[in-house]
Amino acid sequence: MELFETMLQHTSVRSFTQEKLSDERKEQLVLSAQSASSSNFLQAFSIIEITDSEKRKAIEQIANFPVDNGDKGTLYIFVADLNKHAQVLALNGDSLEHLRTMESLVVSIVDATLAAQSMAVFAESNDLGICYVGGIRNNLFKMKELLELPALTYPVFGMFVGYPAEKNEVKPRLPIHAVLGENSYRSLTAEMINDYNKTTSDYYQARSSNIQSTNWSEKVRQQFEYPRRKNTVEFLKKQGFVF
Ligand SMILES: Cc1cc2nc3c(=O)[nH]c(=O)nc-3n(C[C@H](O)[C@H](O)[C@H](O)COP(=O)(O)O)c2cc1C
Repeated sequence: MELFETMLQHTSVRSFTQEKLSDERKEQLVLSAQSASSSNFLQAFSIIEITDSEKRKAIEQIANFPVDNGDKGTLYIFVADLNKHAQVLALNGDSLEHLRTMESLVVSIVDATLAAQSMAVFAESNDLGICYVGGIRNNLFKMKELLELPALTYPVFGMFVGYPAEKNEVKPRLPIHAVLGENSYRSLTAEMINDYNKTTSDYYQARSSNIQSTNWSEKVRQQFEYPRRKNTVEFLKKQGFVF
C-alpha cells in the first residue's frame, strides 16, 4: 500500500497476535523514532522497552489497559527527557536554571511525541499495529518508581506495537476545512460541529465492536467533565521543573 493510503487507514490496535517482533524490526522501530526532527537537535526524549513481565503488568494496570495478560505486542514508554542535557550542563559546571522551564518541558514533550509518531508510521507501513497509551500518566509517581526515572524526565505515553489480531474501522476525522486555516485561525461553526456529530454518531453506531450511542461532542464533554490527573504539576515540580 502506498504510504499515504496506509496513513489514512490508521486505527489504534488493541489486540495483537502472539507473533513477536524480530530484533531487527525492533531496532528499525527505534531508529525510525530517532530520525524524527528534534527541536535544536536536543533529542530530548528516551524510549524504554518494557520486557519485564511484572513491570508490564503493573504498567498495564496503571493504564487500565491490559493487552492479553502482557504477552502480546511490544510496549515502549516514551519519556520527555532533559536529564541528559542536565548531565551535559553539569559536566561543564553550567546552571540548570533554563532547563527547568515550561518551555524546555514543552520542547521535550514535542520531541518525544515526534519520535513516537515516526515510530508509529514506520510500524504501520510494515503491517504492524500500534496504540498509544496515555493511561500510563494515571499514576505518574508509580511510573517514576517502576522505570527509575531521574529528575527532569516525564513519562509522556506508552505505545504498544505488534501484529494486529483485530483492526477497528477507521474513525472519521474532522473535515479538512475544520483543521486547516489560511493565514489565520479558523474556528468551528455550529454547523460544522453538528455535521461532524452526525458523521461520528453514524460511525459509533455502525462499527463492528463496542457500538455506542454517542458523537464527538459527547466525547469532548465527557473528557472535560472533571479534571484529569490533577497531580501532574506536583509531579513535574518534584521532577525539578519550575513554573
Ligand atoms: C497521546 C495518546 C494517548 C492515548 N492513550 C490511550 C489510552 O490510554 N488508551 C487507549 O485505549 N487509547 C489511547 N489512545 C488512542 C486514542 O484513543 C485513539 O488514537 C483515538 O481514539 C483515535 O482513534 P484511532 O487511533 O483508532 O484513529 C491514545 C492516543 C494518543 C495520541
